[in-house]
This record gives sequence, structure tokens and C-alpha cells, in this order.
Amino acid sequence: MPGSLSPIDKAKFAAAKRATQFVESGMRVGLGTGSTAAWLVRCLGEMVRDEGLQIKGVPTSSRTAKMAREVGIEVISLDEAKWLDVTIDGADEFDADLTLIKGGGGAHLQEKIVATASDKMVVIADLSKKVETLGAFPLPIEVIPFGWQTSKTLVEELLIGMDVLGREVNLRMDGDRPFVTDEGNHILDLHLRRIGNPRQLSLVLNQVPGVVENGLFIDICDAVVIGHGDGKVEVFDITEGTNDVTRFDILDDDNLFSDLTD
Ligand code: 5RP
Repeated sequence: MPGSLSPIDKAKFAAAKRATQFVESGMRVGLGTGSTAAWLVRCLGEMVRDEGLQIKGVPTSSRTAKMAREVGIEVISLDEAKWLDVTIDGADEFDADLTLIKGGGGAHLQEKIVATASDKMVVIADLSKKVETLGAFPLPIEVIPFGWQTSKTLVEELLIGMDVLGREVNLRMDGDRPFVTDEGNHILDLHLRRIGNPRQLSLVLNQVPGVVENGLFIDICDAVVIGHGDGKVEVFDITEGTNDVTRFDILDDDNLFSDLTD
């Protein structure tokens, strides 16, 4: 990423930088997946290297595991960690209740397990992820490869009775092949446009044979850190009932993460 940062990258960086304040030495930290979470991993790596921060990281994907190791974060499995102090991850959408859509990067299965095994889940995002009603972003569901077309048909049938606006279901592709998750599964993207009742939908989707997990995160996220292109950062903590605003000076030549590719 040569040259100066785009406003969206500045927003993601600012959110990630602010979210590092949730992390203290000695903590076991869930590390999310995606371009925003990648900023966090790099920021934490810098703190490990320059400030002696001592953490154990539990990555939510093979991509994040690789990056965490590269920047010097000690990586352990969730089974080794057993329970985490905090998980920090991106999101595709969040609403006022901090209900999320995740899985744009195809990692929501591990992400949901890791976030649920954490005292606190913090989402880092730019303002574009904030929505009044979830559903403009296609809802991902992970399905096992065996009989995935049957699972797809069953999902399409159940959507008829759900409070949604769209009902198109697409198999996610990676070029000319189906996308394959870290668990060797596929992803169906549900183009729902508006999700009237996320809780009901989440329960019903997970009853379909072949569906492993859907990308709705309900009652899991505790706080959201929203970054802006000018360095402003808002933190809305739903469990603490707090809302604060800070600002980071991001210089155009502040190109710490020039090799960031995620
Ligand atoms: C991956 C995810 C990501 O957190 C989500 O897609 C947001 O990614 P980005 O920060 O790149 O916008 O759920 O499965």
C-alpha cells in the first residue's frame, strides 16, 4: 500500500489503534479477520515489539494466524486458551443493538466461536458499517459441501416465511470454484436486503441440515469502535452504557503498515 493512506484506511487504522486500549499485558486476545482486523494485528504487533506488550493471540482464521505470527504475536489455539479476555474483530454491518452481520471474509464460524468464548467482544469499523436495519449486506451462512444444493433449497424455502425483503441465495465463488472456508466448507450468501427479525432468522437458519453457522452475531458484541477518515474515533460500549470520542493524528507519511495486504 504505497503512498498515503485513503480516508477509509485512516478510519480503519484509527479504530484499530483505539481498540488496542482494550488490551493489557497478560491478556488472551481473540484476533479477528478482515482488512480492519488486520490493522489491529499490526498495531498489536508493534506494541509487542516496541512496548513489551505480552499477550497470547487466538486467531479466527489461517490468514490472521499467519499475520499475527509475522508481526511477533504469540499464537495459541482456542483450546489452549480456553477462555479469552477480549476479542477484537471487524464487521460487515452493525445496528444500534450491536447485532452484527459478519462473514464477508468467510471466517464467521471461527469468529463466532472465539467471540463467544470471550469476556468482551469489541467491533472495529468505519462508519459505513453502521446501519439502521441489517440486511443490505448479504448474510453469509456456512454449509458443509455434502448436499449443499439441498441445504440451499431448504434455506430458500424457509425464507418464504421470514420477515425479509429479498430471498436470493448464491453460492460464494472463488474464481470459477466454490469458495472454501478454513473448515473446508462452502458459503451461501443470502441477499435479504432487510432483516426484520434477526433473532428468529438466526435460530431458524441454524436448524437447516448442512448449515454449520450463520453470520448473525446477536448478544455477542459489547462495544463498537467507529473510526473516521479524519482520525476521530467514537467508542460506544453497550454493556458499560458509555459513549466517548477521541482523535488520533494520522500523518500522511504515517505508513507503518505499507506491506499490509489483507
Ligand atoms: C470476516 C469478517 C470481517 O470481520 C468482515 O467481513 C469485515 O471485514 P473488513 O474489515 O475487511 O471490512 O466477518 O469473516
